[in-house]
Amino acid sequence: MAERGAWWREGIFYQIYPRSFQDSDCDGVGDLTGIIHRLPHLLTLGVDAIWLSPIFTSPMADFGYDIADYTGIDPLYGTMEDFDALVKAAHDGGLKVILDLVPNHTSDQHPWFLQARHARDDPHRDWYIWRDPAPDGGPPNNWLSEFGGGAWAFDSKTAQYYYHAFLAQQPDLNWRNPQVRAAIYNVMRFWLRKGVDGFRVDVIWHLIKDAQFRDNPANPDYHGGRPPHEQILSRYSADRPEVHEVVAEMRAVIDEFDDRVLIGEIYLPVERLMTYYGKDLTGAHLPFNFALLSAPWHAREIEAIIADYEAALPPGAWPNWVLGNHDRPRVASRVGPDQPRVAAMLLLTLRGTPTLYYGDEIGMHQVEIAPGEVRDPFERNVPGIGVGRDGCRTPMQWSALPQAGFTQAVPWLPVADDFTHENVVNLSADRRSILNLYRALIRMRKTHRALVTGRYRPVAAQGDLLLYRREDDGEVITVALNLGDEPVAIATEGRGLDGEILLSTWLDRDGERIDGTLDLRGNEGVVIGKAI
Ligand code: NOJ
Ligand code: MG
Repeated sequence: MAERGAWWREGIFYQIYPRSFQDSDCDGVGDLTGIIHRLPHLLTLGVDAIWLSPIFTSPMADFGYDIADYTGIDPLYGTMEDFDALVKAAHDGGLKVILDLVPNHTSDQHPWFLQARHARDDPHRDWYIWRDPAPDGGPPNNWLSEFGGGAWAFDSKTAQYYYHAFLAQQPDLNWRNPQVRAAIYNVMRFWLRKGVDGFRVDVIWHLIKDAQFRDNPANPDYHGGRPPHEQILSRYSADRPEVHEVVAEMRAVIDEFDDRVLIGEIYLPVERLMTYYGKDLTGAHLPFNFALLSAPWHAREIEAIIADYEAALPPGAWPNWVLGNHDRPRVASRVGPDQPRVAAMLLLTLRGTPTLYYGDEIGMHQVEIAPGEVRDPFERNVPGIGVGRDGCRTPMQWSALPQAGFTQAVPWLPVADDFTHENVVNLSADRRSILNLYRALIRMRKTHRALVTGRYRPVAAQGDLLLYRREDDGEVITVALNLGDEPVAIATEGRGLDGEILLSTWLDRDGERIDGTLDLRGNEGVVIGKAI
């Protein structure tokens, strides 16, 4: 019997955005049966767990992050039978399944909200956040929606405002109400009983708002070109101290079941992020670490990010790293055309659970979406400054067939125009492709324990070179990443960098002995192993 919790420490997570993975019923939108068809790709890749973005009943104002029934599968994605079949097929293949829990807000079409907005004295009224207008009739305070405009919507029938941190179609639940907590905890139990292996909790740091609804302070560092909600700091609207009580309660629900995981979506500075591990580690197992998503792609910056993160971790807390998700530009576009392989090597050799985003394993890039084809409500509300998320949500590129083999209909978002070459079939056949690099990195991580459980040790380096070691009692692994275009020669003498190359990002140096000098080509990374 493996140690409890080992799977989410030692495994590799893969995020599927279900709308865009594989369509099986010719409606242009991915679905659960499509995911089942594509499980072999994930098994060959070697990942251990899949996290599905929301698949629940939804009007899709925010593509499923607006839920109208927490325990129903949206017909667009299939049926509950399809879901059960997916869990079974995944488990049979040794893959864990993680669902997206969206407890901060519901859809405005959720029966709870329809009842709540019906009358001030409705029993569900207090499940949401209602406030009287300010004396001038305006909103109760200065809080802003993350998707543009104010965060308060006026409901004329009952003459009060309700709070929505995101779209007006996503009213925030009132997490100070014990009935709300009990209802969502029962939703968790429903899915856990069905056998899901855990949750990624949407905007977990938002759940509790200031009891007095104080105005947020202005952000002195705001500058044009950034989303308008950043004009104020979210001091009173998020990351409130009482949220940790809720996180601990969620964790207690998770712990009612055997060996499940609680992951929190949290965009906060590293010291704040760490508090979500909870007192005595009774919070989230893995508060998502998004530091790499916005990291300037320079060796010294990344070295500092890793050092700060490693230093901030509470004793016993397990680290994790994320390189891409459905809200941020594709890594291949962020780091530039020559660096995605180096980024992959970084992700899969750092200490902590790595999360991959679908399509990054084939180097999918951010797709330009014509103004008339924008689907993302964020981009529609705040156009023209590059906040759009459609470009990182385009259909998975499976083959050179029409629509990249994703659908036989018109896909809900356009397929990238490089798909005839950049696709799973083609890249599988190319021995030195990025896809085969991802497979090799994952295999290497599984065969060298030092990469999973070994210590992280930075090694001093200059310029574009990032150097570190992973070591346990049996092996020392050196990772040398060249984040620049120029070749570098590194003297290994006295620095313990010698050994044998386990992998180069170009997949052409396996087994080479390093002794005296390590030569790296531009944009090359290598992993060197040495038994001790
Ligand atoms: C975070 C999710 O990742 C994002 O896609 C969504 O729009 C917001 N939360 C609101 O639920
Ligand atoms: Mg479909």
